[in-house]
Amino acid sequence: MGKYLLVLSFIVLVYIKGCNGCVDEERKALLELKKVFVDDSDDSLLPSSWNIHDPESDCCSWERVTCSSTTGHVIKLALHDLKLGEPTSGNWNQISLFQSFEQLRILNLSSNYLPDWNTTADMKALAKLRKLEYVDFSQNRFNKGIMKALRALPSLAYVDLSSNNLEGTLPAHDLDQLTNLEVLNLSNNSLNGTFPLKGLCELKSLEVLDLSYNWHGGILPPCLNNLTSLKILDLSGNQFNGTISCDLLSSSLQVLILSNNLLQGNLAPCLNNLTSLKLLDLSDNQFDGTISSSLLPTLTSLEYIDVSQNNFQGMLSFNPTAYSSKLKVVILGRETYYGVQETNNLHVDMENSALSELEILSLSNCNLESIPTPFYSLHQLKAVDLSHNKIEGKFPTWLLARNAQLGVLNIRNNCFSGPMYIDLPPGFVTNVVILDISSNQFDGEFPDPEYIGKIFPNLRYVNFSRNSFDGHLPSSIAGLKDMWLLDLSFNNLIGEVPKELIADCTNLTVLILSDNNFNGQIFSAHLNSSNLQHLKLNNNHFTGSLTNVNFKLFKRLELLDVSNNNLTGIIPRSFANLHSSLRLLNMKHNYFEGHFPCGLNLWSSLYVVDLSDNFFSGPLPSCFGSDKLMALNLERNRFTGSIPAALLNSTELIMLNLRNNRLSGSILVELVGIPNIRILMLANNGFSGSIPEHLCDLKYISMMDLSHNSFSGSIPSCFNNITFGSMFPGDVPRHLNQGLVLTGFIFFSFAYVSDNYLRKEYYVGFGSSSTLNLQVEIDFNTKYLLMPYKGGILDFMSGLDLSGNNLTGTIPWNIGDLSSIRALNLSHNHLTGPIPISLSNLSEIESLDYNNLSREIPFDLTGLYSLGAFSVAHNNLSGKIPDVPQLSTFDESSYEGNPFLCGKPLPKSCTSSVDDGDEPGQSVNSAGSEGKWYEVDRISFFGSLAATYIMVMLGFLTILYINPYWRGRWFNFIQDFIDSSYYYVCCFFYYH
Ligand SMILES: *[C@@H]1O[C@H](CO)[C@@H](O)[C@H](O)[C@H]1NC(C)=O
Ligand SMILES: *[C@@H]1O[C@H](CO)[C@@H](O)[C@H](O)[C@H]1NC(C)=O
Repeated sequence: MGKYLLVLSFIVLVYIKGCNGCVDEERKALLELKKVFVDDSDDSLLPSSWNIHDPESDCCSWERVTCSSTTGHVIKLALHDLKLGEPTSGNWNQISLFQSFEQLRILNLSSNYLPDWNTTADMKALAKLRKLEYVDFSQNRFNKGIMKALRALPSLAYVDLSSNNLEGTLPAHDLDQLTNLEVLNLSNNSLNGTFPLKGLCELKSLEVLDLSYNWHGGILPPCLNNLTSLKILDLSGNQFNGTISCDLLSSSLQVLILSNNLLQGNLAPCLNNLTSLKLLDLSDNQFDGTISSSLLPTLTSLEYIDVSQNNFQGMLSFNPTAYSSKLKVVILGRETYYGVQETNNLHVDMENSALSELEILSLSNCNLESIPTPFYSLHQLKAVDLSHNKIEGKFPTWLLARNAQLGVLNIRNNCFSGPMYIDLPPGFVTNVVILDISSNQFDGEFPDPEYIGKIFPNLRYVNFSRNSFDGHLPSSIAGLKDMWLLDLSFNNLIGEVPKELIADCTNLTVLILSDNNFNGQIFSAHLNSSNLQHLKLNNNHFTGSLTNVNFKLFKRLELLDVSNNNLTGIIPRSFANLHSSLRLLNMKHNYFEGHFPCGLNLWSSLYVVDLSDNFFSGPLPSCFGSDKLMALNLERNRFTGSIPAALLNSTELIMLNLRNNRLSGSILVELVGIPNIRILMLANNGFSGSIPEHLCDLKYISMMDLSHNSFSGSIPSCFNNITFGSMFPGDVPRHLNQGLVLTGFIFFSFAYVSDNYLRKEYYVGFGSSSTLNLQVEIDFNTKYLLMPYKGGILDFMSGLDLSGNNLTGTIPWNIGDLSSIRALNLSHNHLTGPIPISLSNLSEIESLDYNNLSREIPFDLTGLYSLGAFSVAHNNLSGKIPDVPQLSTFDESSYEGNPFLCGKPLPKSCTSSVDDGDEPGQSVNSAGSEGKWYEVDRISFFGSLAATYIMVMLGFLTILYINPYWRGRWFNFIQDFIDSSYYYVCCFFYYH
């Protein structure tokens, strides 16, 4: 009886204890935590149910706390997503607070941005939690020290340290003690070196290993096959190289993700041994070799295969015997890189496939000429990407009709043609969210949006650009209320843009109407799409002014391009006060006038500004310039006064074009405030003063045009300090061919669930990206036609134009050191003395005409063979033109006006006496017989000065912040989408 009583009282005790909730010591510890984790205003970040004031409150009933039902001890703390690390970084040092929870099994501190902790005491405190089985510390700021602490916890089965600051090489002994570990996720850190194989390969219980998106290199760890329990292996986004060797992988593997590495070679046939494999992602590597008919025919469990972005060749056929019908996701494409569509040598034969379960299919750039027949029998498709093929025919309405779940249809860059008739049965509604039919040959009237709105009520991304649609844009387009992006650029649309579009589609974030024939006033009071980030209206015939727009609404605007329209009027003050994140502003080639208003808000965010070819007048506002500004083009306006100090303190400026204005002053000393400048264009203004030696501190300059001003004094002898293109592009801090890429995204994800252990999501990201191509016309007045220099080649273009000033003195000898300069123009000055012999180093264009240079032309044979243009006309040179083949290829106009010069190509032979009557320097303009040098008509001579236009495509790269999972792919894709809209695909997965 007593025995029973004892048991009974024990049960009662336990019951009471469970009822009363938590152990007092743990309760105190929780309250201590609550006190420690506070925000800036001292409010606790922990839930309010953690009641400090009520001593009776049962801590086991508090949110985020779980107690054992038998012992009443806290066994789980789910303190994720509380921003615990945000207040002061010292707080996490209070880890010792956790040491009271001796029975703790599950500790989730993820997504708190907790700072690293580093004291031995902290480690000891954590080591006391010997019951811990599950730690999720992802998305914090822990460093490697945490691994040391964890190795003392023998029960650990699950460790997630993804997205922390683990860096460097992980030592082997940090791992080898964790013998019970089943899941190890160290993804998205900065671990490098070869992985500590010794420790890692001891982890016999390991089922999931995720090391993705680190910096591991070397060959794939050969001992991985020790991990006999391994089911999921993700090594994507590292630098692994070499081949996949046969004995590497255990046959238990269900998921193998090696994408985004540097792996190469054939696909070893032994991959066929991985018979349990459900998911295989080898994308974005350098695998090559011929795929003979079917890839990996024994993988009958395969549901997901991605071998895109490799160098495979041959014919991949999905014949029914090779592939089970289990495949749900097939991604084979080879997308374009850097705007160049790479040839994909892999052909795909799907004609006999039996892929009835297919949900996601990407065959981008797979050499398709038609849609494979089996497509007609699919009916579970959710996303189809057929972009960059050569498919002909009409819009594939049947795909919509058969696949009610289709969310993404991308047929960009094919040969589809004809009008966009979508003849679906009445009342038919699709689920399409993303519709990209850009770069095809669709023509005819713009499809009736009212009808489109009925069929596609969920449409968010609408890219119809680069087709031949004509006619008006119907106002019913505004019925597509959810639109996030509308890109209609490069069509033949006419008329006004419906007011309803810009008034009612308030979700519109990207609106691209450029390169059509739209007219009328788009900038009206109706324009209130306050979500707009990118607005591109360039190359149309829009009229009207900006004065009626309520710019206060546009807080999110990043890009505004209205160039090449007929816009008029002044820029309203409200525009300059635009509290936006405007980074690119292009107003080039309109009829804007008046003062450009000052507005610090506007200028503090701008990176690239082009106001060229307008009628802006008055002084340059004092607020022009910022520490972000990288390019400013004000060419061909009527700005007056001097250059404001702020502009000359724009330390990031690499291109400044002020040519053809009415600016004045002597500014050249202050130019040292723009140390990174590469292109400096001040021509055709009223600048004066001497050219100081300070200018030579701007050592990255590759093109400098100071022509047609009133600069005086001599040419500094330090110009050889300036690189003028002699630097390797790698030494230059900023390149001219980089693009400032602005992006906006919309994502569409499809969860691919293999079983409840693994979930892989397939993301299709669509977005918009733009670079502002500042097209600077650079005219060196060289009289000679240059090849247009564009983009990357611009990094190799260099020139110096000092012509049309009042410069005196001699040509400094060391200008000849500028051996990589492509054009040197010193014409129309008052330079005297001899031509330095060093000029024979200069390679392409030299104009020294209209000066007062004397003595002989000194050039010898060396260095001249590539000289493309040369003039020393109208000087005071004498003697014989050197008998160098290259020099005699120029005609006599290069030498005329030098009465004492003789020899070919001048008609005057040197055998006759040099003093045959003409005085030095005297210009000769007498009438004579046909073909004589002196009869050149000056007027027509000037008239024939060939303007040389060098197109400079300029853009800049901003730092792109994208989830690291996507980053790798993103950089490969970006160039494809410059100035356009684009899409990309990426994948990631997580466990739950
Ligand atoms: C711990 O880290 C903090 C901040 O990172 C640092 O100030 C402190 O000196 C470190 N303490 C030790 C013992 O390393
Ligand atoms: C690894 O990372 C550390 C710290 O970030 C760095 O100092 C080291 O140079 C890297 N080693 C290699 C081989 O990249």
